[in-house]
Amino acid sequence: MNLNEIKALKERLANELKKIENICDLEQFRLKYLIRKGEINDLLEDLKGLSLEEKRTFGPALNDFKKTIVSLFEEKKKKIVLSCEECFFDYTAPGKKQEIGSLHPITLITKKILEVFNSFGFEIFETNEVESEYYNFDSLNIAKDHPARDMWDTFWLDKKYVLPLGVKSEKYKAENLLLRTHTSPAQMRYMENHQSPIRMITPGKSFRYEATDARHEFQLHQIEALMIDKDISIANFKSIITDLIRTILEDKSLDVRFRPSYFPFVSPGLEIDVECFKCHGKNKNKHCSLCSNSGYIEMMGAGMVHPNLYKSAKWDSYDYQGFAFGLGVERFAMLRYQIPDIRIFNSGDLRFVKQFKRF
Ligand code: PHE
Repeated sequence: MNLNEIKALKERLANELKKIENICDLEQFRLKYLIRKGEINDLLEDLKGLSLEEKRTFGPALNDFKKTIVSLFEEKKKKIVLSCEECFFDYTAPGKKQEIGSLHPITLITKKILEVFNSFGFEIFETNEVESEYYNFDSLNIAKDHPARDMWDTFWLDKKYVLPLGVKSEKYKAENLLLRTHTSPAQMRYMENHQSPIRMITPGKSFRYEATDARHEFQLHQIEALMIDKDISIANFKSIITDLIRTILEDKSLDVRFRPSYFPFVSPGLEIDVECFKCHGKNKNKHCSLCSNSGYIEMMGAGMVHPNLYKSAKWDSYDYQGFAFGLGVERFAMLRYQIPDIRIFNSGDLRFVKQFKRF
Protein backbone atom coordinates (compact mmCIF):
# COMPACT_ATOMS: atom_id res chain seq x y z
CA MET A 1 0.00 0.00 0.00
CA ASN A 2 1.30 3.46 -0.73
CA LEU A 3 -0.24 6.93 -0.76
CA ASN A 4 -0.16 7.21 -4.53
CA GLU A 5 -2.07 3.99 -4.88
CA ILE A 6 -4.77 5.33 -2.52
CA LYS A 7 -4.95 8.57 -4.47
CA ALA A 8 -5.28 6.69 -7.78
CA LEU A 9 -8.01 4.47 -6.36
CA LYS A 10 -9.88 7.53 -5.10
CA GLU A 11 -9.76 9.05 -8.55
CA ARG A 12 -10.84 5.82 -10.21
CA LEU A 13 -13.88 5.40 -7.94
CA ALA A 14 -14.81 9.08 -8.25
CA ASN A 15 -14.70 8.66 -12.03
CA GLU A 16 -16.76 5.52 -11.89
CA LEU A 17 -19.37 7.37 -9.85
CA LYS A 18 -19.39 10.25 -12.28
CA LYS A 19 -20.38 7.92 -15.12
CA ILE A 20 -23.22 6.31 -13.24
CA GLU A 21 -26.67 7.49 -14.47
CA ASN A 22 -29.25 5.21 -13.00
CA ILE A 23 -30.26 3.86 -9.66
CA CYS A 24 -29.42 0.22 -10.53
CA ASP A 25 -25.79 0.98 -11.38
CA LEU A 26 -25.54 3.11 -8.29
CA GLU A 27 -26.75 0.21 -6.20
CA GLN A 28 -24.14 -2.07 -7.83
CA PHE A 29 -21.48 0.49 -6.88
CA ARG A 30 -22.71 0.55 -3.29
CA LEU A 31 -22.68 -3.23 -3.08
CA LYS A 32 -19.19 -3.45 -4.51
CA TYR A 33 -17.47 -0.76 -2.45
CA LEU A 34 -19.54 0.68 0.34
CA ILE A 35 -21.22 -2.09 2.30
CA ARG A 36 -19.59 -3.51 5.44
CA LYS A 37 -17.95 -6.29 3.46
CA GLY A 38 -17.22 -4.06 0.45
CA GLU A 39 -13.81 -3.30 -1.00
CA ILE A 40 -13.22 -0.03 0.89
CA ASN A 41 -13.73 -1.67 4.24
CA ASP A 42 -11.38 -4.49 3.11
CA LEU A 43 -8.66 -1.89 2.69
CA LEU A 44 -9.35 -0.48 6.14
CA GLU A 45 -9.11 -4.04 7.47
CA ASP A 46 -5.62 -4.29 5.97
CA LEU A 47 -4.54 -1.40 8.24
CA LYS A 48 -4.66 -3.78 11.18
CA GLY A 49 -1.60 -5.69 9.95
CA LEU A 50 0.55 -2.53 9.62
CA SER A 51 3.04 -1.07 12.05
CA LEU A 52 2.11 1.91 14.20
CA GLU A 53 4.21 4.18 12.02
CA GLU A 54 2.48 3.00 8.86
CA LYS A 55 -0.92 3.28 10.47
CA ARG A 56 -0.24 6.95 11.18
CA THR A 57 0.49 7.55 7.52
CA PHE A 58 -2.16 5.44 5.86
CA GLY A 59 -4.97 5.66 8.45
CA PRO A 60 -5.94 9.31 7.80
CA ALA A 61 -5.43 8.88 4.03
CA LEU A 62 -7.73 5.89 3.92
CA ASN A 63 -10.34 7.58 6.12
CA ASP A 64 -10.29 10.63 3.92
CA PHE A 65 -10.60 8.38 0.87
CA LYS A 66 -13.66 6.66 2.31
CA LYS A 67 -15.30 9.92 3.37
CA THR A 68 -14.84 11.44 -0.08
CA ILE A 69 -16.30 8.44 -1.87
CA VAL A 70 -19.26 8.20 0.51
CA SER A 71 -20.10 11.88 0.09
CA LEU A 72 -19.74 11.67 -3.70
CA PHE A 73 -22.00 8.64 -3.60
CA GLU A 74 -24.66 10.48 -1.56
CA GLU A 75 -24.52 13.44 -3.90
CA LYS A 76 -25.02 11.21 -6.90
CA LYS A 77 -27.87 9.39 -5.23
CA LYS A 78 -29.71 12.66 -4.57
CA LYS A 79 -29.24 13.73 -8.15
CA ILE A 80 -30.54 10.46 -9.61
CA VAL A 81 -33.50 10.22 -7.26
CA LEU A 82 -34.57 13.80 -7.87
CA SER A 83 -34.39 13.39 -11.61
CA CYS A 84 -36.49 10.26 -11.59
CA GLU A 85 -39.93 10.58 -10.06
CA GLU A 86 -40.79 6.91 -10.48
CA CYS A 87 -37.96 5.70 -8.37
CA PHE A 88 -38.76 8.15 -5.65
CA PHE A 89 -41.20 6.81 -3.16
CA ASP A 90 -41.56 8.80 -0.03
CA TYR A 91 -42.54 6.29 2.63
CA THR A 92 -43.10 9.02 5.16
CA ALA A 93 -45.69 10.98 3.15
CA PRO A 94 -49.28 10.62 4.42
CA GLY A 95 -51.40 8.25 2.29
CA LYS A 96 -54.14 9.34 -0.09
CA LYS A 97 -57.55 8.82 1.47
CA GLN A 98 -59.69 6.34 -0.44
CA GLU A 99 -63.25 7.67 -0.52
CA ILE A 100 -65.80 4.94 0.09
CA GLY A 101 -69.07 5.56 -1.74
CA SER A 102 -72.47 5.04 -0.19
CA LEU A 103 -75.83 4.09 -1.62
CA HIS A 104 -78.66 6.58 -2.06
CA PRO A 105 -81.48 6.02 0.47
CA ILE A 106 -83.90 5.25 -2.36
CA THR A 107 -81.53 2.54 -3.59
CA LEU A 108 -81.16 1.15 -0.07
CA ILE A 109 -84.91 0.87 0.50
CA THR A 110 -85.56 -0.51 -3.01
CA LYS A 111 -82.87 -3.15 -2.60
CA LYS A 112 -84.21 -4.23 0.75
CA ILE A 113 -87.82 -4.52 -0.43
CA LEU A 114 -86.77 -6.47 -3.55
CA GLU A 115 -84.64 -8.73 -1.37
CA VAL A 116 -87.57 -9.50 0.94
CA PHE A 117 -89.89 -10.27 -2.00
CA ASN A 118 -87.26 -12.20 -3.86
CA SER A 119 -86.94 -14.45 -0.84
CA PHE A 120 -90.73 -15.07 -1.10
CA GLY A 121 -90.18 -16.23 -4.70
CA PHE A 122 -91.23 -13.02 -6.53
CA GLU A 123 -89.59 -12.43 -9.90
CA ILE A 124 -88.13 -8.95 -10.44
CA PHE A 125 -89.50 -7.45 -13.64
CA GLU A 126 -88.79 -4.04 -15.15
CA THR A 127 -90.63 -2.23 -17.93
CA ASN A 128 -90.93 1.07 -19.78
CA GLU A 129 -91.03 4.49 -18.25
CA VAL A 130 -92.42 5.82 -21.53
CA GLU A 131 -95.79 4.08 -21.72
CA SER A 132 -98.74 4.08 -24.02
CA GLU A 133 -102.07 5.44 -22.94
CA TYR A 134 -103.41 1.91 -23.31
CA TYR A 135 -101.09 0.30 -20.76
CA ASN A 136 -101.16 3.19 -18.33
CA PHE A 137 -104.95 3.63 -18.33
CA ASP A 138 -107.23 1.64 -20.66
CA SER A 139 -105.87 -1.85 -19.99
CA LEU A 140 -106.13 -1.12 -16.27
CA ASN A 141 -109.87 -0.54 -16.45
CA ILE A 142 -109.52 3.26 -16.45
CA ALA A 143 -111.75 4.39 -19.31
CA LYS A 144 -111.03 7.55 -21.27
CA ASP A 145 -113.55 9.79 -19.55
CA HIS A 146 -113.33 8.15 -16.15
CA PRO A 147 -112.81 10.70 -13.38
CA ALA A 148 -110.15 8.41 -11.91
CA ARG A 149 -107.80 9.70 -14.60
CA ASP A 150 -107.70 12.93 -12.64
CA MET A 151 -105.78 11.09 -9.89
CA TRP A 152 -102.94 10.61 -12.33
CA ASP A 153 -102.49 13.79 -14.29
CA THR A 154 -99.50 13.17 -16.46
CA PHE A 155 -96.90 14.35 -18.96
CA TRP A 156 -98.10 13.57 -22.47
CA LEU A 157 -95.31 13.11 -24.96
CA ASP A 158 -95.01 14.45 -28.45
CA LYS A 159 -94.43 11.44 -30.72
CA LYS A 160 -92.39 13.58 -33.03
CA TYR A 161 -89.64 13.52 -30.42
CA VAL A 162 -90.19 10.16 -28.74
CA LEU A 163 -90.47 7.75 -31.65
CA PRO A 164 -87.01 8.39 -33.06
CA LEU A 165 -85.62 7.50 -29.61
CA GLY A 166 -86.19 3.83 -30.21
CA VAL A 167 -89.92 3.20 -29.78
CA LYS A 168 -90.16 1.05 -32.87
CA SER A 169 -93.34 -0.96 -32.61
CA GLU A 170 -96.04 -0.13 -35.16
CA LYS A 171 -98.56 -0.42 -32.35
CA TYR A 172 -96.93 2.49 -30.55
CA LYS A 173 -97.04 4.71 -33.57
CA ALA A 174 -100.82 4.75 -33.37
CA GLU A 175 -100.85 5.30 -29.59
CA ASN A 176 -100.73 8.33 -27.38
CA LEU A 177 -97.54 8.20 -25.35
CA LEU A 178 -96.88 9.47 -21.85
CA LEU A 179 -94.52 9.15 -18.92
CA ARG A 180 -96.15 6.44 -16.83
CA THR A 181 -97.99 7.77 -13.81
CA HIS A 182 -97.60 4.57 -11.82
CA THR A 183 -95.88 1.20 -12.06
CA SER A 184 -99.24 -0.57 -12.50
CA PRO A 185 -98.84 -0.92 -16.32
CA ALA A 186 -96.22 -3.53 -15.44
CA GLN A 187 -99.06 -5.71 -14.15
CA MET A 188 -100.62 -5.83 -17.59
CA ARG A 189 -97.34 -6.26 -19.42
CA TYR A 190 -96.47 -9.19 -17.19
CA MET A 191 -99.93 -10.79 -17.35
CA GLU A 192 -99.89 -10.65 -21.15
CA ASN A 193 -96.84 -12.89 -21.19
CA HIS A 194 -97.36 -15.12 -18.18
CA GLN A 195 -100.02 -17.38 -16.80
CA SER A 196 -101.05 -18.17 -13.24
CA PRO A 197 -99.36 -18.68 -10.81
CA ILE A 198 -97.69 -15.26 -10.83
CA ARG A 199 -95.37 -13.67 -8.30
CA MET A 200 -93.95 -10.50 -9.76
CA ILE A 201 -92.37 -7.39 -8.30
CA THR A 202 -91.41 -4.34 -10.31
CA PRO A 203 -89.38 -1.32 -9.20
CA GLY A 204 -89.18 1.90 -11.18
CA LYS A 205 -89.86 5.56 -11.67
CA SER A 206 -93.27 7.14 -12.13
CA PHE A 207 -94.10 10.70 -13.12
CA ARG A 208 -96.97 12.97 -12.21
CA TYR A 209 -97.79 16.38 -13.44
CA GLU A 210 -97.96 18.20 -10.16
CA ALA A 211 -96.42 21.07 -8.28
CA THR A 212 -93.67 20.04 -5.89
CA ASP A 213 -93.71 20.68 -2.18
CA ALA A 214 -92.27 18.96 0.89
CA ARG A 215 -94.44 15.87 0.31
CA HIS A 216 -94.89 15.79 -3.47
CA GLU A 217 -92.47 15.39 -6.36
CA PHE A 218 -93.26 15.11 -10.05
CA GLN A 219 -90.95 12.11 -10.23
CA LEU A 220 -91.18 9.31 -7.70
CA HIS A 221 -90.04 5.73 -7.25
CA GLN A 222 -92.58 3.00 -6.85
CA ILE A 223 -92.53 -0.71 -6.25
CA GLU A 224 -95.46 -2.68 -7.57
CA ALA A 225 -96.20 -6.31 -6.82
CA LEU A 226 -98.61 -8.82 -8.30
CA MET A 227 -99.44 -12.24 -6.94
CA ILE A 228 -101.99 -14.47 -8.65
CA ASP A 229 -102.90 -18.07 -7.96
CA LYS A 230 -105.95 -20.19 -7.33
CA ASP A 231 -106.39 -19.45 -3.63
CA ILE A 232 -104.82 -16.07 -3.06
CA SER A 233 -106.76 -13.92 -0.63
CA ILE A 234 -106.45 -10.64 1.21
CA ALA A 235 -105.22 -12.70 4.18
CA ASN A 236 -102.06 -13.64 2.20
CA PHE A 237 -101.54 -10.04 1.27
CA LYS A 238 -102.10 -8.85 4.82
CA SER A 239 -99.49 -11.12 6.32
CA ILE A 240 -96.87 -10.37 3.65
CA ILE A 241 -97.33 -6.61 3.74
CA THR A 242 -97.51 -6.31 7.52
CA ASP A 243 -94.24 -8.18 7.75
CA LEU A 244 -92.64 -6.00 5.07
CA ILE A 245 -93.65 -2.69 6.66
CA ARG A 246 -92.47 -3.77 10.10
CA THR A 247 -89.15 -5.02 8.68
CA ILE A 248 -88.41 -1.83 6.77
CA LEU A 249 -89.42 0.45 9.61
CA GLU A 250 -87.61 -1.82 12.07
CA ASP A 251 -90.41 -2.07 14.60
CA LYS A 252 -92.19 -5.40 14.91
CA SER A 253 -95.00 -4.06 17.09
CA LEU A 254 -96.31 -1.34 14.72
CA ASP A 255 -100.01 -1.63 13.90
CA VAL A 256 -100.80 -1.91 10.18
CA ARG A 257 -104.29 -0.78 9.15
CA PHE A 258 -106.24 -1.87 6.06
CA ARG A 259 -108.88 0.58 4.89
CA PRO A 260 -111.29 0.40 1.93
CA SER A 261 -110.35 2.61 -0.99
CA TYR A 262 -110.84 2.91 -4.73
CA PHE A 263 -108.54 2.12 -7.65
CA PRO A 264 -110.21 1.03 -10.92
CA PHE A 265 -107.86 -1.94 -11.43
CA VAL A 266 -108.57 -3.65 -8.12
CA SER A 267 -111.72 -4.81 -6.41
CA PRO A 268 -111.97 -4.43 -3.53
CA GLY A 269 -109.42 -1.63 -3.26
CA LEU A 270 -107.43 -0.95 -0.13
CA GLU A 271 -105.25 1.71 1.35
CA ILE A 272 -102.62 0.51 3.80
CA ASP A 273 -101.64 2.71 6.73
CA VAL A 274 -99.09 2.20 9.44
CA GLU A 275 -99.35 3.38 13.01
CA CYS A 276 -97.58 6.72 13.44
CA PHE A 277 -94.36 5.80 15.18
CA LYS A 278 -93.84 9.36 16.36
CA CYS A 279 -97.02 9.98 18.37
CA HIS A 280 -98.80 6.58 18.12
CA GLY A 281 -102.00 8.62 17.93
CA LYS A 282 -101.81 9.14 21.68
CA ASN A 283 -100.79 12.75 22.03
CA LYS A 284 -103.96 14.46 20.84
CA ASN A 285 -103.14 17.77 22.53
CA LYS A 286 -99.87 18.27 20.63
CA HIS A 287 -99.62 18.58 16.84
CA CYS A 288 -97.87 15.64 15.16
CA SER A 289 -96.15 16.72 11.94
CA LEU A 290 -95.93 13.15 10.71
CA CYS A 291 -99.57 12.06 10.85
CA SER A 292 -101.44 15.33 11.54
CA ASN A 293 -102.79 13.65 14.67
CA SER A 294 -104.62 10.91 12.76
CA GLY A 295 -102.39 8.30 14.43
CA TYR A 296 -101.73 6.59 11.07
CA ILE A 297 -99.60 7.26 7.98
CA GLU A 298 -100.62 6.20 4.47
CA MET A 299 -98.19 3.71 2.97
CA MET A 300 -99.62 2.29 -0.26
CA GLY A 301 -102.56 1.43 -2.47
CA ALA A 302 -103.54 -2.18 -3.01
CA GLY A 303 -106.38 -4.56 -3.68
CA MET A 304 -107.53 -7.75 -5.36
CA VAL A 305 -106.93 -7.83 -9.12
CA HIS A 306 -110.06 -6.62 -10.98
CA PRO A 307 -111.67 -9.29 -13.23
CA ASN A 308 -111.46 -6.90 -16.20
CA LEU A 309 -107.66 -7.14 -16.07
CA TYR A 310 -107.78 -10.86 -16.83
CA LYS A 311 -109.90 -9.95 -19.84
CA SER A 312 -107.47 -7.21 -20.95
CA ALA A 313 -104.61 -9.69 -20.70
CA LYS A 314 -106.68 -12.22 -22.71
CA TRP A 315 -106.47 -14.98 -20.14
CA ASP A 316 -108.94 -17.70 -21.04
CA SER A 317 -109.85 -18.92 -17.59
CA TYR A 318 -111.01 -16.87 -14.63
CA ASP A 319 -110.39 -19.47 -12.02
CA TYR A 320 -107.85 -17.46 -10.04
CA GLN A 321 -107.50 -14.50 -7.81
CA GLY A 322 -104.67 -12.23 -6.93
CA PHE A 323 -103.58 -9.11 -5.20
CA ALA A 324 -101.57 -6.13 -6.33
CA PHE A 325 -100.05 -3.24 -4.49
CA GLY A 326 -98.03 -0.17 -5.36
CA LEU A 327 -95.92 1.61 -2.78
CA GLY A 328 -93.95 4.84 -2.90
CA VAL A 329 -90.29 4.26 -2.09
CA GLU A 330 -89.73 7.91 -1.08
CA ARG A 331 -92.50 7.59 1.48
CA PHE A 332 -90.83 4.51 3.02
CA ALA A 333 -87.43 6.21 3.01
CA MET A 334 -88.81 9.39 4.58
CA LEU A 335 -90.36 7.41 7.39
CA ARG A 336 -87.48 5.05 7.92
CA TYR A 337 -84.78 7.76 7.96
CA GLN A 338 -86.96 10.64 9.26
CA ILE A 339 -86.42 12.81 6.18
CA PRO A 340 -88.69 15.85 6.36
CA ASP A 341 -88.69 17.00 2.70
CA ILE A 342 -89.08 14.79 -0.39
CA ARG A 343 -87.24 17.27 -2.65
CA ILE A 344 -83.90 16.55 -1.00
CA PHE A 345 -83.73 13.07 -2.61
CA ASN A 346 -82.97 14.60 -5.99
CA SER A 347 -80.82 17.44 -4.69
CA GLY A 348 -77.55 15.66 -5.50
CA ASP A 349 -76.20 16.89 -2.18
CA LEU A 350 -73.49 14.45 -1.06
CA ARG A 351 -73.77 15.56 2.56
CA PHE A 352 -77.30 14.18 2.45
CA VAL A 353 -76.65 11.03 0.46
CA LYS A 354 -73.72 9.87 2.58
CA GLN A 355 -75.64 9.60 5.83
CA PHE A 356 -77.56 6.40 5.37
CA LYS A 357 -76.58 3.05 6.69
CA ARG A 358 -77.38 -0.23 5.05
CA PHE A 359 -79.96 -2.56 6.55
N1 PHE B 1 -100.97 2.46 -8.90
C1 PHE B 1 -101.57 2.99 -7.70
C2 PHE B 1 -101.01 4.39 -7.47
O1 PHE B 1 -99.95 4.71 -7.97
C3 PHE B 1 -101.29 2.13 -6.51
C4 PHE B 1 -101.89 0.77 -6.60
C5 PHE B 1 -101.19 -0.29 -7.11
C6 PHE B 1 -103.20 0.54 -6.13
C7 PHE B 1 -101.74 -1.57 -7.19
C8 PHE B 1 -103.74 -0.71 -6.21
C9 PHE B 1 -103.02 -1.76 -6.73
O2 PHE B 1 -101.61 5.20 -6.79
